[in-house]
Amino acid sequence: MSSLVYTLVTGASNGIGKAFAEECAARGQNILLVALPEPKLEEVANHLKEKYPQQAFHHLGINLMEKDAPQQILDWCQNHDFTVDILINNAGLGNSGPFTSLPTEFYQGQMQLNMLSLVGLTHLFLPMLLAKPKGYIINVASMAAFYDIPFKGIYSASKKFVYSFSRSLNKELESTSVNITVLCPASVPTNPDVMLREKELGLMARLTSQTPEQVAQYTLDKMYQGKQVVIPGFFPRLYKRIGTIVPYRARLNILAKQFIKNSK
Ligand SMILES: NC(=O)c1ccc[n+]([C@@H]2O[C@H](COP(=O)([O-])OP(=O)(O)OC[C@H]3O[C@@H](n4cnc5c(N)ncnc54)[C@H](OP(=O)(O)O)[C@@H]3O)[C@@H](O)[C@H]2O)c1
Repeated sequence: MSSLVYTLVTGASNGIGKAFAEECAARGQNILLVALPEPKLEEVANHLKEKYPQQAFHHLGINLMEKDAPQQILDWCQNHDFTVDILINNAGLGNSGPFTSLPTEFYQGQMQLNMLSLVGLTHLFLPMLLAKPKGYIINVASMAAFYDIPFKGIYSASKKFVYSFSRSLNKELESTSVNITVLCPASVPTNPDVMLREKELGLMARLTSQTPEQVAQYTLDKMYQGKQVVIPGFFPRLYKRIGTIVPYRARLNILAKQFIKNSK
Protein backbone atom coordinates (compact mmCIF):
# COMPACT_ATOMS: atom_id res chain seq x y z
CA MET A 1 0.00 0.00 0.00
CA SER A 2 1.40 3.40 -0.92
CA SER A 3 1.80 5.96 1.88
CA LEU A 4 -0.57 8.92 2.10
CA VAL A 5 0.59 12.32 0.96
CA TYR A 6 0.24 15.27 3.35
CA THR A 7 0.47 19.03 3.68
CA LEU A 8 2.66 19.90 6.67
CA VAL A 9 1.78 23.14 8.48
CA THR A 10 3.87 24.62 11.31
CA GLY A 11 2.13 26.87 13.83
CA ALA A 12 -1.12 25.08 12.95
CA SER A 13 -2.85 25.59 16.31
CA ASN A 14 -3.66 29.27 15.89
CA GLY A 15 -3.96 32.22 13.52
CA ILE A 16 -2.68 31.98 9.95
CA GLY A 17 -1.35 28.42 10.39
CA LYS A 18 -4.70 27.17 11.68
CA ALA A 19 -6.43 28.90 8.75
CA PHE A 20 -4.00 27.20 6.34
CA ALA A 21 -4.77 23.80 7.91
CA GLU A 22 -8.53 24.42 7.65
CA GLU A 23 -8.37 25.71 4.07
CA CYS A 24 -6.11 22.84 2.92
CA ALA A 25 -8.48 20.36 4.58
CA ALA A 26 -11.45 21.99 2.81
CA ARG A 27 -9.55 21.43 -0.46
CA GLY A 28 -9.33 17.70 0.28
CA GLN A 29 -5.78 17.47 1.60
CA ASN A 30 -4.44 15.31 4.43
CA ILE A 31 -2.73 17.46 7.03
CA LEU A 32 0.19 17.16 9.46
CA LEU A 33 -0.26 19.82 12.13
CA VAL A 34 2.83 20.96 14.04
CA ALA A 35 2.90 23.52 16.89
CA LEU A 36 3.83 23.86 20.54
CA PRO A 37 2.61 20.93 22.67
CA GLU A 38 -0.52 22.75 23.90
CA PRO A 39 -4.06 21.27 24.13
CA LYS A 40 -5.35 23.57 21.35
CA LEU A 41 -3.19 21.77 18.78
CA GLU A 42 -5.02 18.51 19.49
CA GLU A 43 -8.34 20.39 19.50
CA VAL A 44 -7.71 21.74 15.98
CA ALA A 45 -6.67 18.27 14.75
CA ASN A 46 -9.75 16.63 16.33
CA HIS A 47 -12.04 19.26 14.86
CA LEU A 48 -10.65 18.57 11.37
CA LYS A 49 -10.94 14.78 11.88
CA GLU A 50 -14.63 15.17 12.74
CA LYS A 51 -15.34 17.55 9.88
CA TYR A 52 -13.45 15.58 7.21
CA PRO A 53 -13.64 11.89 8.24
CA GLN A 54 -12.38 10.67 4.85
CA GLN A 55 -9.07 12.51 5.23
CA ALA A 56 -6.07 11.91 7.51
CA PHE A 57 -4.91 14.37 10.19
CA HIS A 58 -2.00 13.91 12.58
CA HIS A 59 -0.42 16.35 14.99
CA LEU A 60 2.98 16.74 16.63
CA GLY A 61 3.56 19.04 19.60
CA ILE A 62 7.13 20.32 19.49
CA ASN A 63 9.06 23.48 20.28
CA LEU A 64 10.57 24.76 17.04
CA MET A 65 13.02 26.85 19.07
CA GLU A 66 14.83 23.60 19.88
CA LYS A 67 17.73 23.15 17.46
CA ASP A 68 16.92 19.54 16.57
CA ALA A 69 13.15 20.11 16.08
CA PRO A 70 13.28 19.99 12.23
CA GLN A 71 15.11 16.63 12.37
CA GLN A 72 12.58 15.32 14.93
CA ILE A 73 9.73 16.33 12.60
CA LEU A 74 11.34 14.52 9.66
CA ASP A 75 11.92 11.43 11.86
CA TRP A 76 8.24 11.51 12.93
CA CYS A 77 7.18 11.58 9.27
CA GLN A 78 9.55 8.79 8.23
CA ASN A 79 8.64 6.57 11.21
CA HIS A 80 4.94 6.86 10.31
CA ASP A 81 5.41 6.68 6.55
CA PHE A 82 3.95 10.16 6.03
CA THR A 83 5.15 11.81 2.83
CA VAL A 84 4.79 15.53 2.23
CA ASP A 85 4.16 17.44 -0.99
CA ILE A 86 3.29 20.83 0.52
CA LEU A 87 5.37 22.35 3.33
CA ILE A 88 3.98 25.48 4.98
CA ASN A 89 6.63 27.12 7.18
CA ASN A 90 4.34 29.42 9.12
CA ALA A 91 5.34 29.39 12.82
CA GLY A 92 6.95 32.65 13.85
CA LEU A 93 7.21 35.10 16.71
CA GLY A 94 6.84 38.89 16.62
CA ASN A 95 7.46 41.64 19.17
CA SER A 96 7.99 45.37 19.35
CA GLY A 97 9.70 47.70 21.79
CA PRO A 98 13.20 49.00 22.56
CA PHE A 99 15.90 46.48 21.58
CA THR A 100 17.36 46.31 25.11
CA SER A 101 13.96 45.78 26.77
CA LEU A 102 14.15 42.03 26.21
CA PRO A 103 16.95 39.61 27.14
CA THR A 104 19.36 38.20 24.54
CA GLU A 105 17.71 34.79 24.99
CA PHE A 106 14.42 36.14 23.64
CA TYR A 107 16.05 37.25 20.38
CA GLN A 108 18.01 33.99 20.10
CA GLY A 109 14.74 32.06 20.36
CA GLN A 110 13.00 34.38 17.91
CA MET A 111 15.80 34.01 15.35
CA GLN A 112 15.90 30.22 15.86
CA LEU A 113 12.14 29.99 15.24
CA ASN A 114 11.72 32.57 12.47
CA MET A 115 14.82 31.66 10.44
CA LEU A 116 16.76 28.56 11.46
CA SER A 117 13.83 26.20 11.94
CA LEU A 118 12.43 27.32 8.56
CA VAL A 119 15.78 26.69 6.84
CA GLY A 120 16.14 23.34 8.63
CA LEU A 121 12.68 22.12 7.60
CA THR A 122 13.18 23.32 4.02
CA HIS A 123 16.54 21.57 3.79
CA LEU A 124 15.35 18.31 5.33
CA PHE A 125 12.05 18.05 3.44
CA LEU A 126 13.24 19.22 0.03
CA PRO A 127 14.40 15.76 -1.14
CA MET A 128 10.93 14.36 -0.32
CA LEU A 129 9.22 17.20 -2.19
CA LEU A 130 11.54 16.84 -5.18
CA ALA A 131 10.53 13.18 -5.45
CA LYS A 132 6.89 14.19 -6.00
CA PRO A 133 5.44 15.08 -9.42
CA LYS A 134 4.76 18.53 -7.95
CA GLY A 135 5.87 20.01 -4.64
CA TYR A 136 5.21 23.36 -2.96
CA ILE A 137 6.73 25.34 -0.11
CA ILE A 138 5.07 28.38 1.45
CA ASN A 139 7.41 30.40 3.65
CA VAL A 140 5.62 32.96 5.78
CA ALA A 141 7.50 36.27 5.89
CA SER A 142 5.68 39.59 6.42
CA MET A 143 5.25 43.07 4.98
CA ALA A 144 7.95 43.83 7.58
CA ALA A 145 10.38 42.14 5.15
CA PHE A 146 10.25 45.27 2.95
CA TYR A 147 11.26 47.77 5.65
CA ASP A 148 13.86 48.50 8.30
CA ILE A 149 11.64 48.84 11.37
CA PRO A 150 12.96 50.59 14.50
CA PHE A 151 11.68 48.95 17.71
CA LYS A 152 11.02 45.80 15.68
CA GLY A 153 14.50 45.33 14.25
CA ILE A 154 15.15 41.62 14.82
CA TYR A 155 11.66 40.66 13.64
CA SER A 156 11.86 42.70 10.41
CA ALA A 157 15.42 41.44 9.76
CA SER A 158 14.26 37.84 10.27
CA LYS A 159 11.46 38.34 7.75
CA LYS A 160 13.87 39.95 5.22
CA PHE A 161 15.95 36.78 5.64
CA VAL A 162 12.91 34.57 4.92
CA TYR A 163 12.06 36.67 1.87
CA SER A 164 15.59 36.66 0.42
CA PHE A 165 16.22 32.97 1.14
CA SER A 166 12.88 31.96 -0.40
CA ARG A 167 13.38 33.94 -3.60
CA SER A 168 16.95 32.82 -4.19
CA LEU A 169 16.17 29.16 -3.48
CA ASN A 170 13.14 29.35 -5.75
CA LYS A 171 15.42 30.47 -8.59
CA GLU A 172 17.80 27.62 -7.78
CA LEU A 173 14.88 25.18 -8.08
CA GLU A 174 13.37 26.63 -11.28
CA SER A 175 14.07 23.53 -13.36
CA THR A 176 12.61 21.20 -10.72
CA SER A 177 9.08 20.22 -9.69
CA VAL A 178 9.21 22.35 -6.52
CA ASN A 179 7.93 25.91 -6.29
CA ILE A 180 8.48 28.27 -3.36
CA THR A 181 5.99 31.01 -2.51
CA VAL A 182 6.89 33.64 0.05
CA LEU A 183 3.88 35.11 1.85
CA CYS A 184 4.10 38.73 3.04
CA PRO A 185 0.92 39.58 4.98
CA ALA A 186 0.20 42.98 6.51
CA SER A 187 -1.84 42.98 9.70
CA VAL A 188 -3.78 39.81 10.51
CA PRO A 189 -5.74 39.77 13.80
CA THR A 190 -4.66 36.41 15.18
CA ASN A 191 -3.54 36.88 18.77
CA PRO A 192 -3.98 39.56 21.51
CA ASP A 193 -0.64 41.24 20.66
CA VAL A 194 -1.54 41.76 17.00
CA MET A 195 -5.03 42.97 17.95
CA LEU A 196 -3.55 45.54 20.35
CA ARG A 197 -1.09 46.68 17.66
CA GLU A 198 -3.94 47.07 15.15
CA LYS A 199 -5.85 49.21 17.65
CA GLU A 200 -2.84 51.43 18.29
CA LEU A 201 -1.86 51.81 14.64
CA GLY A 202 -5.40 53.00 13.85
CA LEU A 203 -6.77 53.56 10.36
CA MET A 204 -3.75 52.25 8.44
CA ALA A 205 -3.88 48.91 10.29
CA ARG A 206 -7.65 48.66 9.83
CA LEU A 207 -7.37 49.30 6.09
CA THR A 208 -4.60 46.75 5.57
CA SER A 209 -6.06 44.13 7.93
CA GLN A 210 -6.98 40.74 6.48
CA THR A 211 -8.52 37.79 8.30
CA PRO A 212 -6.43 34.60 8.60
CA GLU A 213 -9.00 32.86 6.38
CA GLN A 214 -8.65 35.49 3.63
CA VAL A 215 -4.86 35.17 3.79
CA ALA A 216 -4.91 31.36 3.60
CA GLN A 217 -7.41 31.16 0.71
CA TYR A 218 -5.69 33.83 -1.37
CA THR A 219 -2.21 32.41 -0.76
CA LEU A 220 -3.16 28.85 -1.71
CA ASP A 221 -4.79 30.09 -4.92
CA LYS A 222 -1.62 32.03 -5.79
CA MET A 223 0.63 29.13 -4.79
CA TYR A 224 -1.09 26.85 -7.32
CA GLN A 225 -0.60 29.58 -9.95
CA GLY A 226 3.15 29.44 -9.21
CA LYS A 227 3.35 32.96 -7.69
CA GLN A 228 6.68 33.65 -5.98
CA VAL A 229 5.60 36.54 -3.74
CA VAL A 230 2.12 36.90 -2.28
CA ILE A 231 0.80 40.04 -0.56
CA PRO A 232 -2.86 39.44 0.31
CA GLY A 233 -5.18 42.46 0.06
CA PHE A 234 -5.48 45.55 -2.13
CA PHE A 235 -4.47 48.05 0.59
CA PRO A 236 -1.33 46.13 1.67
CA ARG A 237 -0.20 46.05 -1.99
CA LEU A 238 -0.91 49.79 -2.32
CA TYR A 239 0.89 50.47 0.99
CA LYS A 240 3.96 48.64 -0.32
CA ARG A 241 3.96 50.72 -3.53
CA ILE A 242 3.63 53.98 -1.60
CA GLY A 243 6.45 52.81 0.67
CA THR A 244 8.85 52.73 -2.28
CA ILE A 245 8.10 56.40 -3.09
CA VAL A 246 8.59 57.79 0.45
CA PRO A 247 12.26 58.76 1.06
CA TYR A 248 14.15 56.34 3.31
CA ARG A 249 14.70 58.74 6.26
CA ALA A 250 11.05 59.82 6.32
CA ARG A 251 9.93 56.18 6.16
CA LEU A 252 12.22 55.29 9.06
CA ASN A 253 10.84 58.16 11.15
CA ILE A 254 7.22 57.17 10.43
CA LEU A 255 7.88 53.54 11.34
CA ALA A 256 9.82 54.49 14.50
CA LYS A 257 6.87 56.62 15.68
CA GLN A 258 4.38 53.86 14.91
CA PHE A 259 6.22 51.05 16.66
CA ILE A 260 7.49 52.87 19.78
CA LYS A 261 3.86 53.17 20.85
CA ASN A 262 3.26 49.52 21.62
CA SER A 263 6.24 48.19 23.53
CA LYS A 264 5.94 44.49 24.12
N1 LIG B 1 -0.56 38.19 12.50
C1 LIG B 1 0.04 39.10 11.75
O1 LIG B 1 -0.36 40.29 11.72
C2 LIG B 1 1.20 38.71 10.87
C3 LIG B 1 1.63 39.61 9.89
C4 LIG B 1 2.71 39.27 9.09
C5 LIG B 1 3.32 38.04 9.25
N2 LIG B 1 2.90 37.19 10.21
C6 LIG B 1 3.60 35.91 10.35
O2 LIG B 1 2.66 34.87 10.17
C7 LIG B 1 3.05 33.73 10.94
C8 LIG B 1 1.89 33.28 11.82
O3 LIG B 1 1.52 34.39 12.63
P1 LIG B 1 0.19 34.38 13.50
O4 LIG B 1 -0.13 35.80 13.79
O5 LIG B 1 -0.81 33.50 12.88
O6 LIG B 1 0.76 33.73 14.84
P2 LIG B 1 -0.03 33.19 16.13
O7 LIG B 1 -1.48 33.45 16.03
O8 LIG B 1 0.71 33.72 17.32
O9 LIG B 1 0.21 31.61 16.00
C9 LIG B 1 1.52 31.15 15.98
C10 LIG B 1 1.51 29.66 15.81
O10 LIG B 1 2.87 29.20 15.89
C11 LIG B 1 2.98 28.33 17.02
N3 LIG B 1 4.26 28.53 17.67
C12 LIG B 1 4.69 29.65 18.31
N4 LIG B 1 5.92 29.45 18.81
C13 LIG B 1 6.25 28.18 18.48
C14 LIG B 1 7.37 27.35 18.75
N5 LIG B 1 8.41 27.82 19.45
N6 LIG B 1 7.38 26.08 18.29
C15 LIG B 1 6.32 25.58 17.61
N7 LIG B 1 5.23 26.31 17.32
C16 LIG B 1 5.19 27.59 17.76
C17 LIG B 1 1.84 28.74 17.94
O11 LIG B 1 1.55 27.72 18.87
P3 LIG B 1 0.76 28.16 20.22
O12 LIG B 1 -0.60 28.61 19.74
O13 LIG B 1 0.72 26.95 21.05
O14 LIG B 1 1.54 29.28 20.81
C18 LIG B 1 0.75 28.97 16.91
O15 LIG B 1 0.26 27.75 16.42
C19 LIG B 1 4.30 34.15 11.70
O16 LIG B 1 5.44 33.72 11.03
C20 LIG B 1 4.21 35.67 11.72
O17 LIG B 1 5.47 36.28 11.83
C21 LIG B 1 1.84 37.49 11.03
